[in-house]
Amino acid sequence: MRTLEAVPSASSLIESMRSLGYDLPSALADIIDNSITAKASRIKIDYGWNEGNPYVLILDNGGGMSYDKLYEAMKPGSKSPLEEREEDDLGRFGLGLKTASWSQCKRMTVYTKQKELINHLTWDLDHVSKVDNWELLVDLEQYEQEILQQKLTDIDNGTALLWTNLDRILPERGDDDSKKGHFYSIMGDLVTPHLSMIFHRYLERKKIEIFVGRVSCKSWDPFMSAHNATEEVSSEGYEDEKITITPFLLPHSSKLVTAFEKEEAEGIRGWDANQGFFVYRKDRMIISGGYFDLDLKPNASHRLCRIKVDLTNEFDHAWKVDIRKRDVIPPPSYRDELKRIAKSTMNRSSNRYVARTTFKTKLRKNQTLEEIWQRKQIGEKIQYKINSKSPGIGALIDEHNINKKALKQIFYLIERNVPYRSITLDNNEMEDATMNLPQENVRPPEGVLQVAINLVHSEITKGMSAVDAIELITQLIFPSFGAEFRVKLEDEFEGE
Ligand SMILES: Nc1ncnc2c1ncn2[C@@H]1O[C@H](COP(=O)(O)OP(=O)(O)O)[C@@H](O)[C@H]1O
Ligand SMILES: [Mg+2]
Repeated sequence: MRTLEAVPSASSLIESMRSLGYDLPSALADIIDNSITAKASRIKIDYGWNEGNPYVLILDNGGGMSYDKLYEAMKPGSKSPLEEREEDDLGRFGLGLKTASWSQCKRMTVYTKQKELINHLTWDLDHVSKVDNWELLVDLEQYEQEILQQKLTDIDNGTALLWTNLDRILPERGDDDSKKGHFYSIMGDLVTPHLSMIFHRYLERKKIEIFVGRVSCKSWDPFMSAHNATEEVSSEGYEDEKITITPFLLPHSSKLVTAFEKEEAEGIRGWDANQGFFVYRKDRMIISGGYFDLDLKPNASHRLCRIKVDLTNEFDHAWKVDIRKRDVIPPPSYRDELKRIAKSTMNRSSNRYVARTTFKTKLRKNQTLEEIWQRKQIGEKIQYKINSKSPGIGALIDEHNINKKALKQIFYLIERNVPYRSITLDNNEMEDATMNLPQENVRPPEGVLQVAINLVHSEITKGMSAVDAIELITQLIFPSFGAEFRVKLEDEFEGE
């Protein structure tokens, strides 16, 4: 066989490997995976401005590496994705250490300790580029030595990863002060909540501690499993129970007492981002919300819907876990199932908004609120008429100063042309064909929300509580406007 060697150019390949699409929090999460796999119990992320030569340092007290292991670990593709992994190994492609680091910085040093033995190696991408060859650096710079030296003195075994020349973290433009501000704010504001979410199971079980600067990451459980108003819908198992899907319904806001609980429920990324599927590979979160590409969109009334999917690393290939461990693509055989589960959980979420009270019956006893449609028996015949005295219509007439005579004419026209026959046929063909339409197709027209808000305000000034007023408006004055309308109204009066 005649062959020809085709060695890739180090300098161009490294540029591509820098652009896999990590952001800083997800790059750090990939590094922490390695620490967890190395059985670390404490992980510290330090960072400093260092007079304009900022650094990020990830330190763990895991098993550390021998020189040989370190040398292997520094090679891109140190382990094949086809190689079988231990069940609790969070790695996959043998790339994370390198690709995650290079996505953020140009120079990275691994400094590792096993008992008295300390080993280190450095990738400097400027050097690789210059010599166009995969050459590691054996010696440390003076400042690296200074940063690293004392870090491992207190522990027997462990690893420190130092990132310098942070070209991808710092903005290209701006003066030193603004760059410094940017650096501190992303480290402080973005990293901690991300890690608190991705590793919440480990944090919760006190298996690991993570510090970002001096701040310790507190676990953020998207399902509020510890809250007694959270509903865990029974889970479904697949592949010998190695995959499980468990829908959760968060407590309705009326069940959340403190401001802290409310913030916890919503999560720092907000209601929309935190809706949908949360996929775990072992105990490590990979997908945080969203509906894959199942053609479902977040909606305010589905905000209580969060679905847990548990996978093991056996399914990496089938579910297409990506290099960054930020994405999976469910196999085609699961798509219908996932969609069915999502839709039914979304419905339950909406129902938590529209059907949670007995207010209607309570109010009925001493108040006669008139229905929008009146059914009139005329001999053997039945007529349905619009009731212009119903409070909803009344409110709209007042709001818009509608001419009653004109309205009567319009109502008459509508009443005489209700498509009774086709409604009956549709419902015979399919049960409830004309009921419970998808909310996005029957959104109330612009301005009605404001009318409702005004009505709630006016009830409040008459002495009713905001909760009861919302109840009155959504159940009796503007009934059947759907959960989304109700959520918006509740949001408007949040905290009152
Ligand atoms: N913090 C660490 N402690 C001990 N070993 C580590 C650490 N980080 C990386 N390694 C070693 O380096 C190897 C390569 O890491 P990485 O490039 O992230 O690939 P993967 O995690 O897919 O194996 C790991 O398999 C592990 O042996
Ligand atoms: Mg890894």
